[in-house]
Amino acid sequence: MIVNTKLSHLAVAVKDIEPAREFFEMITGNSSSNPHLVKSQKVNTSFISIGDTHIELLEPSEEITPISKFLESKGGGIHHLCIETDEFDSLINKIKNKNIRTLGEPSIGAKGKRVIFFHPKDTFGILIELEEK
Ligand code: CO
Repeated sequence: MIVNTKLSHLAVAVKDIEPAREFFEMITGNSSSNPHLVKSQKVNTSFISIGDTHIELLEPSEEITPISKFLESKGGGIHHLCIETDEFDSLINKIKNKNIRTLGEPSIGAKGKRVIFFHPKDTFGILIELEEK
């Protein structure tokens, strides 16, 4: 089976999205998308292209969210990397068969596509998001 995957985005957790947009716009030379609320994950997101991938900025949209906990303990930084695949369901089954835990069930992510997260303790310390192409 040939699975087409690519790096969809690298997500960075930020306390305040506006200065982060300004910085990443400056460093990439590209403009960022207007902040968009993802209710399911309680974050405001903005995407900036870099090459053929993106940086996703994540700002907590409420006081208590998974991102605010991450910001409190780590002060910011790379939060997750997202892999886009055209074999979303079969890849999830394959990964689950390896006893890699998921964080909940698939939900609708920032781009309106189905996404699922895997437990970082089962994926070498990095939170991985899988996104349906
Ligand atoms: Co993401």
